Amino acid sequence: MKDGYGRKINYLRISITDRCNLRCRYCMPEDIDTVPMGQILSYEEIEEVSRCAAGLGISKIRITGGEPLIRRDVCDLIRMLKAIPGIDTVALTTNGVLLEQMVPDLAKAGVDGINVSLDTLDRKRYELITGKDELGSVLKGIGAAERIGIPLKINAVSLDPGRYFGSSSQGGDARLPGDFSDLIGLAQYRPVDVRFIELMPIGYGKDCPGIGHDRLIGMVRDAYPGLEKEEVQGGGPAVYYRIPGYRGRVGFISAIHGRFCDSCNRIRLTSMGFLKSCLCYDTGVDIKDLLRSDMAHEQKEEALLEGIRQCILQKPAAHVFSGEGEITEKKAMSAIGG
Ligand code: 5AD
Ligand code: SF4
Repeated sequence: MKDGYGRKINYLRISITDRCNLRCRYCMPEDIDTVPMGQILSYEEIEEVSRCAAGLGISKIRITGGEPLIRRDVCDLIRMLKAIPGIDTVALTTNGVLLEQMVPDLAKAGVDGINVSLDTLDRKRYELITGKDELGSVLKGIGAAERIGIPLKINAVSLDPGRYFGSSSQGGDARLPGDFSDLIGLAQYRPVDVRFIELMPIGYGKDCPGIGHDRLIGMVRDAYPGLEKEEVQGGGPAVYYRIPGYRGRVGFISAIHGRFCDSCNRIRLTSMGFLKSCLCYDTGVDIKDLLRSDMAHEQKEEALLEGIRQCILQKPAAHVFSGEGEITEKKAMSAIGG
């Protein structure tokens, strides 16, 4: 259905756990309180919400976390969601640490695509960012997914290497720090889109030095003079460019310097069952309350439909990052799912 600003909302992101096996500095730098399992929606509850959402025009679902692959039987959920009439895409966003061993089951369950979050190809820096020495496992996971033919994207948060690591001269060339050129290199021989995500001042992201996309896009343009903006964009918030001779594309998700909200097509369900209307605000509808109420089946379904409609209609025209006071979301990104 359309929201109050005429945007077509057809995409639901579902966080299935707030727990994670990494500790990314901008997301969950230390152990934070996690939610007891009883408060987390069951797969059956998630399916029920998704069925209603499909009735209102949601056709694409993405499973996120925390780290979704640490929740048991995630492939069963993928199968359940894929079976819902009207849902034509079920994708997954993962940090990739557990990907290699799960690729065969994920492929069997019919996952339509996997986004791997990966901010650097440098082992030391990877450990500095995520707190764990797991780069090797992530790369093996990417290789395994590629071999089995699951469409892949890489998502990298744009950290400022100069301010973050105290040096910007590592690898790469003078115009583009190594972390960026290494990652873009992944798109050279494979059909993989590499997307940079502008660091958002949400949760721990507030205290982390990101690089503005106004600057980063300029640097990438200088380093790849053939860079060409795609004429037809994907419909989501990413803006894609092609580099001549590269199989994959380079994308920028510019929450701060882009006109990002105009193309917003999504709502988000947290693992605790809160349906969020916008990433940056705490507005939304408590779906868990409805799911766990003792209404009769039909009445509950009507209430769920109405709850989802309300959430979509509550979507703001745009978020405002300029004055920090504008952001009302206090949760960590791991509790939202990005
Ligand atoms: N700003 C931008 N992206 C973030 N992510 C986590 N925290 C932030 C933040 N503050 C990213 C993760 C992952 C996606 C789900 O969200 O790196 O790619
Ligand atoms: Fe885990 Fe993703 Fe957060 Fe890193 S960004 S701690 S991988 S949920």
